[in-house]
Amino acid sequence: MSGPAKVAVLISGRGSNMQALAEAAGDAYEIVVVASDKPGAPGLAWAIQHRLPTFALSPKGIGKPVFEAALDGALREAGAEWIALAGYMRLLSDGFVAKWRGRIVNIHPSLLPKYKGLDTHARAIDAGDAAGGCSVHVVTEELDGGEVLGQREVAILPGDTPETLAERVLAAEHQLYPAVLKEFVRR
Ligand code: GAR
Repeated sequence: MSGPAKVAVLISGRGSNMQALAEAAGDAYEIVVVASDKPGAPGLAWAIQHRLPTFALSPKGIGKPVFEAALDGALREAGAEWIALAGYMRLLSDGFVAKWRGRIVNIHPSLLPKYKGLDTHARAIDAGDAAGGCSVHVVTEELDGGEVLGQREVAILPGDTPETLAERVLAAEHQLYPAVLKEFVRR
């Protein structure tokens, strides 16, 4: 296929990974829409300022099937071929994952398969791990369970709190995600 791969980025919050992906876009991929389940997500304002198309819809009151049908429609209308989850904090249904099988990636703040789910940094510190980190993986029906495409390790330092570790891991995420996405969309 010619031209950059068309990527939709899904966010729920500040969207710093989405910003890193946007800043690294170019020949390999372009962001065709930034979508959110939180109409007030700060990342949407950044996307609008940077002239990226956005789509925002809350599932509250409409139910997951209606929400996901609208999301799916918006992504397809934008021409998306791939989906990058970037701090998207809502589980996608099995049906949605099946429709985009093998074309959704996620960034997770742990060295998978360790610490799937939430509170990853606190769990790594409490376990006495020497390092935490981040992983980019393919999204499947299993939470944080798909093929790992790339990882970055971040040393846990004496006195680290979940917050201080999260900050350094986030910087690693911003390096890792664009690099892995560029490779992934070549598949
Ligand atoms: C990131 O640390 C990301 O890895 C994590 O949320 C943060 C979002 O930050 N994602 C998850 O925990 C997914 N389960 P961002 O909105 O600034 O990109």
